[in-house]
Parts: sequence; C-alpha cells; structure tokens
Amino acid sequence: MAERVRAERNRTLTISEDEVPILERYISTASDIKTSFADDCVVNADLFDCLDTIPNGYFNLIIVDPPYNLDKDFHGNKFSSMNTQLYEDYLRSWFYKVCDKLASNGTLYMCGDWKCSSSMQRVIEERLTVINRITWQREKGRGAMSNWKNAMEDIWFAVKNPSNYYFNVDSVKMKRKVIAPYRVDGRPKDWQETEQGNFRITYPSNFWDDISIPFWSMPENTDHPTQKPEKLYAKLVLASSKPGDTVFDPFLGSGTAAVVARKLGRRFCGIEINHEYCLWAVKRLLNSKVDRSIQGYADGVFWERNSLSDQKTGKHVKPSTRIIVQPTLF
Ligand SMILES: C[S@@+](CC[C@H](N)C(=O)[O-])C[C@H]1O[C@@H](n2cnc3c(N)ncnc32)[C@H](O)[C@@H]1O
Repeated sequence: MAERVRAERNRTLTISEDEVPILERYISTASDIKTSFADDCVVNADLFDCLDTIPNGYFNLIIVDPPYNLDKDFHGNKFSSMNTQLYEDYLRSWFYKVCDKLASNGTLYMCGDWKCSSSMQRVIEERLTVINRITWQREKGRGAMSNWKNAMEDIWFAVKNPSNYYFNVDSVKMKRKVIAPYRVDGRPKDWQETEQGNFRITYPSNFWDDISIPFWSMPENTDHPTQKPEKLYAKLVLASSKPGDTVFDPFLGSGTAAVVARKLGRRFCGIEINHEYCLWAVKRLLNSKVDRSIQGYADGVFWERNSLSDQKTGKHVKPSTRIIVQPTLF
C-alpha cells in the first residue's frame, strides 16, 4: 500500500506500511466469528458468509448503508446498476436475514438516494414498519447538464414493533442561530443571548440540512468513495440506542457506524468485504481512544453547519499521528 503525499492541511486518514500488521490484529474473519462471536468487532468478510453466524435478535440498532443502485467502484469491488426488480431481489438476498438480527424492540435505518429509495421502502416494509423517512440535504452533489444536481439522500427509519421501540428525542436537539430575535418585556422569547450570538435549542425534524459530507480538511475523512459523516450517524445512534446497547453495520465501509458507536459508549459489530477499508475502520477506532469528539456535536446538542469552531469539538488526531497499540480490543 503506497503512502500518498498530501497537502499539509489535508487531514484525510493515512496508514503506513508498518502500521498494517498492527491494525490487522484487530480485524476478525468470518471463521473467527464462527468460532466465537464477540462484541466490538470489525469483520473483514462477505456479509453472506457471516449472516448465519451472527446471533438472531442481538442488536438494538442496525444501520444499513448498502451499495446504491449505481455503477460504483469500491476500490476494485465494482457494483453495477441494474433494473429495479433485480435491485430489489439483491436487497432481499441479505435484508431478511439482517432483520432477524434485530432485537424485538430494535430499530433499523437504511440509507439510499432518489434512485434506490423507493425499492428500499418496498423491501423494508416486507419485514418492518416504516416510522419515517429522513431527508438529508448533502449540500454537495455532482452537477449535470441534462438533469438536476443530486444533493439529497433518504434515511428510512423502521422498527420491528411500532408499539415498543426506543426513541430519545432530547438527545438529538439542535442549536440554531436565531434570525429574528423576538423579545417579550425586553427578554428573549425561547432563545439564548450569548457572546457567540443568539441561539435557540430546537427539536429535530425529518429534514436534515446541518450535515456536510466528510471532506479533506476533516479528521474523520478517508478515501472511501461513499463515506457517511459521523454527525449523521451520531443522530441515529443517540436517538435510537442507549449507552451499552449494540449497533450492527453489515456494510461497514470506512467504519463510521463503529466509530460513532464507540465514541458514544455503544458496542458494535461491522462487516466489510474490502480489507483496506477495514484497516481504515480500525485506525479510526484506535484514534477514537484519544479523540472522542464528533464534528458538529458538542455540549449535548447538534450545531448548524460551520457554526462550531475546532476548539469546541475537542482535540483532533493529526493524520500523521502514529496509532497507539492497545493491549485490549479497541
Ligand atoms: C455505501 S458503502 C458504506 C459506507 C459506510 N457507511 C461509511 O461510512 O464508510 C457500502 C460498503 O459495502 C461494502 N460491501 C459491498 N458488498 C458487500 C458484501 N457482500 N459484504 C460486505 N461488505 C460489502 C463495500 O465495500 C462498501 O464499502
């Protein structure tokens, strides 16, 4: 694995040759988890080789971010777009078994774009009850001459039992700038006057416009082609699991779900077919021992885009920082 030279302010995660064998110690295989399944594992395997091993009813929260119905090259592992019927069959080929892993009062979120989202809704409803659809305005999208730029994604919110599931809305409140500061008898009405500006604490809706996709100046950034932001997954984890609960991500990618679970005191299991992505996930997990901050989340609230300084979000690990070898797993 050749180490890439990057601009000085580029914080994208890097791994040197000599770190690889150290990081590999933390990666499990499909046969490891067959012998003994334990919490807090990054499994480098094909999901289809693990689904019969992972215990049923085990996870409080499952976050699924599968390949979308697009042509996408995951560093050599290519996914090809297909007709809707075939894509739905692909979803069914793993989704039913993934649902079996969910606790009876558990929650599942599934991410998709406009093209695969309706297929996802149909397949999810074959096993679970859809509670809501969150729309995430990604901000960045590739421009097109003959179409509208795609700058949003859906996140389906579904549960096994609609009359018994955990949801903690107080843990995902937002801190927003007050545009029209309204006063009653000279005092702020439902907002706070601070030296940094005027803010209101609000409950979140199902439209999320406060989250940017990871980019090169963010310490969470990797070279994964479709990495999700930690801030986005932090909302899912905080709202739909308790500290100590267990989070499952069957398509772990660069490790975002595991890292966020770890930073927020949850346990995790992630499966990823690409070995290099597993190395990135493990390095991010080890770094999270030093830096538990989540960009955009501080003082127990989610801040608007670009409204929170680095100092507020805590101490960041520089990309050149050496990993710390831990005697215990993560
Ligand atoms: C959309 S990406 C997930 C990105 C992830 N949420 C993140 O934040 O980095 C989907 C991932 O699924 C992996 N994948 C695809 N098919 C798989 C399979 N059969 N078993 C395990 N992983 C698979 C791909 O390598 C890719 O990293």
